[in-house]
Amino acid sequence: MKNKIRIALDGPSGSGKSTVAKELSKKLNILYLDTGAMYRAVALKTLNLGKDTFDEKAVSEFIDNIDLQIRYISGSQHTFLDGDDVSEKIREPRISMQASNVSSLKCVRLKMVDMQRKIAADMSCVLDGRDIGSFVLPDADYKFYITAGVDVRAKRRMKELEEKGYKVDFEKLKKEIEQRDYNDKNRDFAPLRCADDAIIIDTSDMTVTEVLNKILSYIK
Ligand code: DC
Repeated sequence: MKNKIRIALDGPSGSGKSTVAKELSKKLNILYLDTGAMYRAVALKTLNLGKDTFDEKAVSEFIDNIDLQIRYISGSQHTFLDGDDVSEKIREPRISMQASNVSSLKCVRLKMVDMQRKIAADMSCVLDGRDIGSFVLPDADYKFYITAGVDVRAKRRMKELEEKGYKVDFEKLKKEIEQRDYNDKNRDFAPLRCADDAIIIDTSDMTVTEVLNKILSYIK
C-alpha cells in the first residue's frame, strides 16, 4: 500500500455506507470522516437560531464563522457545535430532513467541502457522504457507490432508530427517505451522484461483512 490512501464512499440514506466505512477505517487503521454529521450540525445550528433550513440568507450570515469541530475521542468521531458535543443530538430523526434541506444551500456546501478537504489533506482516510467521489475528492484512490433498495434502507433505518428507543412508522420513514433521496439527487450544486469511476455495490442482499470484504478485495 502506498503511503496515503483516500477512499470515497457515497450513496443514499440507509445504504449502510457509514457502518461499512467505520469498519473499513478500523481494518485499514485510517481516519473515518462521516460528512453527513457536519450537515446535520449545520441544520441543528439553524434550528437553534430559530431559522428555516432553506433560508439561504439566514444561514449565509453564520456559516463562514460556524464553530463546528470534528474531534476523535477513543477512535470515534465526535461533532462539536459551539463547544458542545452534539454527536447524539444530530442523530435525532427530526434532524435528518433538515440536514438534507440545509445541504442544498451552496454557501453550506462550499464551507463543508472546504473543511472536509482540509481534514482529508494530509492523512489516509475514508470519507462517507453524497458527493465525495464526484466533488470533494475527485482524485480519491478508490471510489465506491453503496446503494440498496428503498424498502431495505427504510427497514435498516427503522431498526437503528428503534434500538435507540424511537417509535417509528415504517411507511412514514420510507416516504421521508424517498423525499431525502429526491432532494439530495436534485439539488443544483454537487448533488448525490455516482462518480463515473466509482464501483457500484448494491447491498440489498449483503451483510456488512460481505460488503466490507467486497470493498477490501479492490484495495491493494
Ligand atoms: O448521511 P446522513 O444521513 O447523515 O446525511 C444527512 C444529510 O446530509 C443528507 O440527507 C444529505 C446531506 N449530505 C450531503 O449533502 N453531502 C454529504 N457529503 C453528506 C451528507
